[in-house]
Amino acid sequence: MSAKPSLEKRPEPGPGPGSGPGPDGPPLLELRDLHVGYGAIEALKGVDLEVRRGEVVALLGANGAGKSTTLKTVSGMLAPRSGEVLLHGERIDGITSHQLVRFGLGHVPEGRRVFGRMTVLENLHMGAYRLRRPDPADLERVFALFPRLHERRRQVAGTLSGGEQQMLAIGRALMGKPELLLLDEPSMGLAPLIVQQIFGILREINEQGTTLLLVEQNATQALQLADRGYVLETGELVMSGPAGELLSDPRIRAAYLGEHVEAEAEAEAEAGRG
Ligand SMILES: Nc1ncnc2c1ncn2[C@@H]1O[C@H](COP(=O)(O)OP(=O)(O)O)[C@@H](O)[C@H]1O
Ligand SMILES: [Mg+2]
Repeated sequence: MSAKPSLEKRPEPGPGPGSGPGPDGPPLLELRDLHVGYGAIEALKGVDLEVRRGEVVALLGANGAGKSTTLKTVSGMLAPRSGEVLLHGERIDGITSHQLVRFGLGHVPEGRRVFGRMTVLENLHMGAYRLRRPDPADLERVFALFPRLHERRRQVAGTLSGGEQQMLAIGRALMGKPELLLLDEPSMGLAPLIVQQIFGILREINEQGTTLLLVEQNATQALQLADRGYVLETGELVMSGPAGELLSDPRIRAAYLGEHVEAEAEAEAEAGRG
């Protein structure tokens, strides 16, 4: 049987920076009253969230808040107990992760997980596996974003540095032509300079038209890149808003930016009550 690329029903790549997210029409991604659990553990207790086309949305929260669970549910690795996941206004909960690649969804998982014994190039080809064949233009795009990966394309991935492996994990996801890219703590365990570099590249990827849902514990970096943000606390959203507002919110600053302003915020609240 011959492959028929014409059968591929894929959305066009995201809009360019000029076309903007557009206020009308359904969000690119929408979570409605999402409940997800592991056995007796209720990891998400009714999460409502949306991501519009062209946006960068940050999902923040402490360890164990449910951030990875959210991304895994969106990418079909976990099935919700109740609630809905909609992509382009259509239900995708219940669709498996390998089918979802065809819907324009890419997931860069926590802890990067590249194929350690394969070369950089082989890893990138794996990212395009489900598209029948890799698109040379995608490979060029990845190498333009990450010249380091081009230099090391014949190197075995397990011997790359942590930052390079993260770049490879992102590059591999881009090979699937995602319209929406889910990123699970891309800065984890990396030196500040490398983190800066990665965030700069994420900005570039967004400017090229890919929408980003970014999970981070590094709230400052994430909110500086993001248009909007949400804060998860033990499975529930406790705050959301424009990234700039969250960045200057004393509660966020106290909880996630390592600032000891709790006493000040309390004093302010006291003053407000009195
Ligand atoms: N495979 C699993 N089995 C049981 N509990 C899990 C599993 N994965 C995550 N959890 C629990 O679900 C909650 C949310 O976890 P997770 O989504 O990984 O949080 P985060 O990514 O924000 O650190 C935590 O209480 C965690 O212990
Ligand atoms: Mg996590």
